[in-house]
Amino acid sequence: MPRDPFNREIDYLRISVTDRCNFRCVYCMPLDGLRFLPNNELLSPAEIETVIRAAVAVGFRKFRFTGGEPTLRLDLPEIIERAASVPGVGQLALTTNAMLLDTLAEPLKRAGLARINVHLDSLNRETLERQMRWANFDHMWAGIMAAERVGLTPIKLNAVVTAGYNENDVVDLARLTFERDWHVRFIELMPLGGGECARLSVKRYVSNIETRRRIESAFGPLSELPSDNPADEAQNFKLAGARGVVGFISPVSEPYCGTCNRMRLTADGKFHLCLLNDDEMDVRKALRSGAADVEQQVGAILIRAVQHKPTGHHLLEGRSTRERSMYQIGG
Ligand code: 5AD
Ligand code: SF4
Repeated sequence: MPRDPFNREIDYLRISVTDRCNFRCVYCMPLDGLRFLPNNELLSPAEIETVIRAAVAVGFRKFRFTGGEPTLRLDLPEIIERAASVPGVGQLALTTNAMLLDTLAEPLKRAGLARINVHLDSLNRETLERQMRWANFDHMWAGIMAAERVGLTPIKLNAVVTAGYNENDVVDLARLTFERDWHVRFIELMPLGGGECARLSVKRYVSNIETRRRIESAFGPLSELPSDNPADEAQNFKLAGARGVVGFISPVSEPYCGTCNRMRLTADGKFHLCLLNDDEMDVRKALRSGAADVEQQVGAILIRAVQHKPTGHHLLEGRSTRERSMYQIGG
């Protein structure tokens, strides 16, 4: 397994397959002024497969597909199928807003997908549609149900807690864990990209300390679950009598850079070394070079990317990325 200079074992690759999204969450995408990658700049399913082969060869074991919204790629089932065909690839996961999952869950499962994380900020239609602009609760819920039905489990829901939007809806979301064996996780807002969404993310930040207090005053104390995976970015808890798990992902109040095991691939084929940093290494050029040893070349770039992976972020000093926003990196 490749190790970085801080002795972290990097074995998890998050692959963004598009920078487009069918939503415009207030902290992620502005309503206008957006420019998306032209199709010829996106990696093809075959190119993505080559990256995965190279990554497995150098010791990567975990892969997740993200966006933007990955289900907007019509060839997503092909991408998953190619990924699943790589020997040693491990479990494949997807991060999605579930809007299109009602019909896609089954073909994605058949293609070899194991699990999904669904980004759902609220169960309250009004807040949901105000915060995740263009979202439709009924479609998302139908998508989540379809995913559960075909066995894309355990279902994990992620809510980005945003002051003045869903900060009080965290109680209803946590309540879901009484009935369902899902993971419901609360994410602290991070300012990425330097634009209006980054400014909103600074202003609307809610600490998970506060979110936890809200949940506990509604349902009583949360008990912490022992961690079975040191690289899990969530701290996991249970409410008394619940079936599911309540998780907190707290990059701002409790940075977990020290156990970060991730590398990211952007939709236009660059290894992005850290979510909260602009450093990147191009891999598309090697993929399109026509060389006979493309896979070895990609593996070498990946090793170099791991060796240059930074640690520690500067969110509290007001520094983050300038070049890229979340929808361009994939979270
Ligand atoms: N801060 C924290 N999390 C975010 N996400 C998107 N934008 C932000 C932000 N500014 C989350 C969404 C999505 C994942 C890719 O990242 O929950 O699921
Ligand atoms: Fe789309 Fe996810 Fe960004 Fe929302 S957070 S706009 S669902 S990419």
